[in-house]
Amino acid sequence: MIWFDILCHPVWAVSTALLAFVVRLQRRGSWDPQACTVQLKGKTAVVTGANTGIGKFIALDFARRGARVILACRSEARGTAALKEIREKTGNSDVHLRLVDLSSLDSVREFAKGFLEEEKALHILVNNAGVSGLPRQITKDGLDASFATNHLGPFLLTSLLLDLMKRSAPSRIVTVSSVNHRKGEVDFSHFHGENLSYFMDKIYNNTKLHNVICTNELARRLQGTGVTANSVHPGIVMTEVMRHYPLIVRCLFNFIGFFFFKSPEEGAVSPIYCAVAEETEGITGKYFDCDCSLVLPAPLARDTALAVKDFEICERLTSKL
Ligand SMILES: NC(=O)c1ccc[n+]([C@@H]2O[C@H](COP(=O)([O-])OP(=O)(O)OC[C@H]3O[C@@H](n4cnc5c(N)ncnc54)[C@H](OP(=O)(O)O)[C@@H]3O)[C@@H](O)[C@H]2O)c1
Ligand SMILES: *[C@@H]1O[C@H](CO)[C@@H](O)[C@H](O)[C@H]1NC(C)=O
Ligand SMILES: *[C@@H]1O[C@H](CO)[C@@H](O)[C@H](O)[C@H]1NC(C)=O
Repeated sequence: MIWFDILCHPVWAVSTALLAFVVRLQRRGSWDPQACTVQLKGKTAVVTGANTGIGKFIALDFARRGARVILACRSEARGTAALKEIREKTGNSDVHLRLVDLSSLDSVREFAKGFLEEEKALHILVNNAGVSGLPRQITKDGLDASFATNHLGPFLLTSLLLDLMKRSAPSRIVTVSSVNHRKGEVDFSHFHGENLSYFMDKIYNNTKLHNVICTNELARRLQGTGVTANSVHPGIVMTEVMRHYPLIVRCLFNFIGFFFFKSPEEGAVSPIYCAVAEETEGITGKYFDCDCSLVLPAPLARDTALAVKDFEICERLTSKL
């Protein structure tokens, strides 16, 4: 009982609350989406993984600004629930659901085919969907499932929608990466699940590094087209991102997160900044931190020779041969 008394002592309670308050103040970025008056009427946006977490709040923001928003989700039930919620909250009925499983190249191709047949323009593409902590699994394309979901599926999706985005220019591609990319390594045998360590989610760190590398290379290839491509770190955010971890890890994440991590709404701020703010118009090939500041990504993500090679390998892996 003595421990209980010590832990529950008012001094602890007050200081923890104070600390949490200070952290909360500090973690707020300098940019406020509510104060940004940019309207997106007449614009079309795609947000992948928009049924929950950060993606849902990105889609909600675009819908508030009057955009035609396509929620690209893999689950019909979860997607429909988000669709209803976003329509209700924003009064924008021009929000739609389109199913895609990013871990399957065929599913991505089918999504793109339908999209290109039915949509006339695409101004904003947010590659938000991602997984962490997936156990080892090889997809029917022969790819590691985490790499397929976090990198190669989004890579193919972006490539297939690129011509439409050029025709719709100015347009923006935003890839939600992570600060974890700094701990990532590049080894092209990883794509097939070889030589990979799943310990401490190394693989997630690797996929997020490839996100930044290929987004930067894409930006170089898009120079002069009016299409920009940037990557962004949303912050450490309380979402379902830990869903593949053991219960005890999730409890710990949520407990610490309750005090120190961002809400999904706060996590959506830097991606939204990148996608809609006037200040970021024309900026391309950059990496934004969770407070919306421009920072340098990891050295590996600035190696242009490596980027050319990575991009070409990803093109080969995702092309239909
Ligand atoms: N949370 C953080 O602390 C944090 C930090 C840095 C970066 N990020 C990045 O932020 C992005 C959003 O993550 P979150 O935190 O919002 O996670 P989340 O709550 O788990 O949401 C992830 C979204 O991606 C979707 N998704 C997963 N696999 C998919 C697939 N194969 N095909 C289509 N959609 C798929 C999920 O759909 P289902 O609901 O159907 O599974 C869900 O909508 C991710 O790229 C993540 O890496 C997050
Ligand atoms: C990766 O694994 C293959 C066998 O699967 C092996 O031949 C190769 O040397 C390994 N590469 C590295 C960098 O460890
Ligand atoms: C992955 O990145 C996180 C955050 O930077 C780090 O804590 C973790 O140790 C990294 N995992 C490995 C295996 O490097």
